[in-house]
Amino acid sequence: MVNSERRAFVKQCVASIAFLAFPFKNITFTKGRISPEFKFRLPALPYAFNALEPYIDSATMQIHHSKHHQAYVDKLNTASWSGFEFSEHLSALCKQINETSPAIIRNNLGGHYNHSLFWNLLSAQPDVLPAEFSRRLNAEFGSFEAFKTQFSEAALKHFGSGWCWLILTENGRFKICTTPNQDNPLMGIAQVKGKPLLALDLWEHAYYLKYQNRRAEYIQNWFSIVKWSTCEALLNGMEV
Ligand SMILES: [Fe+2]
Repeated sequence: MVNSERRAFVKQCVASIAFLAFPFKNITFTKGRISPEFKFRLPALPYAFNALEPYIDSATMQIHHSKHHQAYVDKLNTASWSGFEFSEHLSALCKQINETSPAIIRNNLGGHYNHSLFWNLLSAQPDVLPAEFSRRLNAEFGSFEAFKTQFSEAALKHFGSGWCWLILTENGRFKICTTPNQDNPLMGIAQVKGKPLLALDLWEHAYYLKYQNRRAEYIQNWFSIVKWSTCEALLNGMEV
């Protein structure tokens, strides 16, 4: 892909994911503050519920998106946002989460950001590793297979509900980490901080209908439907 094509592609991805997370046209807000009129919206899935079969089943996708993600959005809209500065990016709101943030915002903002990202990191068609992202993986982990092994081990070892991440750290390194519940590495309370480039939902609601207790099989199959082009777009500046 030549540079002009790559820029156009990234621009398209940015517009697409920004719209998915924030389709709030005609909503007004007070400068610097989230106003009472502001409403978070559930983004539409970029594919059909059954598009990820046989790796993720249709019933799981339907419940996960229209029940679980919808619930995070609904609860977020009941929260009091006193003290938060408005941003049109969920990522910028996540960065404002600290030890004193209300649990309703920490949990449901995390749930909204994490899932908005997760849907866009899944592809109904096989996706190839973009060259630059592949080069960075190889530089950090030695090979794609070594990265996959380390990521899978971290995801498997994580106790209970949470997320496994590949992040870009402040000093520009790739790093694998996990977070509990709906926390993410953007939050001020995260033990390991950075920009998410890849996210795997480890909550049982993401896989239990099909895989029951077989988290390792879910992780292995999930690698077959990762949309690597979104990882590179995130690396190149895309925000959710
Ligand atoms: Fe989930």
